[in-house]
Amino acid sequence: MPAITSTAPGKIIIFGEHAVVYGRPAIAVPVNQVRARAAIMAEPKKPPGEVFIDAPDIDLKTSLAELKEAHPIKQAIIGVKTSLGISNLPAFTVRITSTIPVSAGMGSGAAVSAAVIRALSTFLGHPLPDEEVSRLVYEVEKIHHGTPSGIDNTVITYAQPVYYVRGEPIERLFINRPITLVVGDTGISSSTADTVADVRRAWEANRTRYETYFNRIAEISKNARIIIESGDPEALGPLMDLNHDLLVEVGVSSPELDSLVETAREAGALGAKLSGGGRGGNMIALVPEETTSFVSNALKDGGAVKVFTTRIRNIEN
Ligand code: MEV
Repeated sequence: MPAITSTAPGKIIIFGEHAVVYGRPAIAVPVNQVRARAAIMAEPKKPPGEVFIDAPDIDLKTSLAELKEAHPIKQAIIGVKTSLGISNLPAFTVRITSTIPVSAGMGSGAAVSAAVIRALSTFLGHPLPDEEVSRLVYEVEKIHHGTPSGIDNTVITYAQPVYYVRGEPIERLFINRPITLVVGDTGISSSTADTVADVRRAWEANRTRYETYFNRIAEISKNARIIIESGDPEALGPLMDLNHDLLVEVGVSSPELDSLVETAREAGALGAKLSGGGRGGNMIALVPEETTSFVSNALKDGGAVKVFTTRIRNIEN
């Protein structure tokens, strides 16, 4: 029997990270160049229930029984069993690989969960609809992130640009004209759970100030949506700069992120900001086509450990 395979993309948040946890809108897009992949092979010679996990990228080779209960891969598998009302699994091996940088704000954990949930439910003969895949990924994220907004599971499951407001129906974003972004990785691992928890402490200590930051970020996301839908992506640059400045105030930037953002601007980017949880991970720069390689090289020279370009567009354009 051939393996059942499923993949899910990475993601970047263009506007509104952190504020989105507090009900403000945010804009996120899938990044299809980097993906998580789960392949499930039946093991008909093994006794039912014997499940083996092989995830070479994170040095994990173990039986499901030996994996600790809270492990996200175990939680993803349990989620599928519960959702489908299945008490006993057949024997199988799941091989998980991913090209999405880990702890870099690109949703690697959520993408692995989405790929495992899709592959397993298909293997069991009941492929789950996107809505349920997204819900299950969110449940796994909650164990490790505390209070995720739900934006990561949404953009990764639907693999479409989204304008996301926590608790509201998903709004797909129409990209009128493609947007070119250069992504620069500081190479510094950063836990989104930690930055989200730190922001919560700061918000609790000074709600008025933080609510003002979040309201200003919300205005940026709303304006950005209008610009993206009307097809004038160059006008997003100043909004990215403003959003970055507010994230500095919120306390989630770092000297390395600030330096790469500045480098990108000096090299000709129209705007730049950190993306995702912050304190490490990635920054993004909006570039006119002709300066893409100039900005990329400047970021590499400026200390980015990995740089790539992504073109944000709808499937139709
Ligand atoms: C993480 O990709 C984005 C944050 O806003 C957290 C969240 O929305 O759950 C920092």
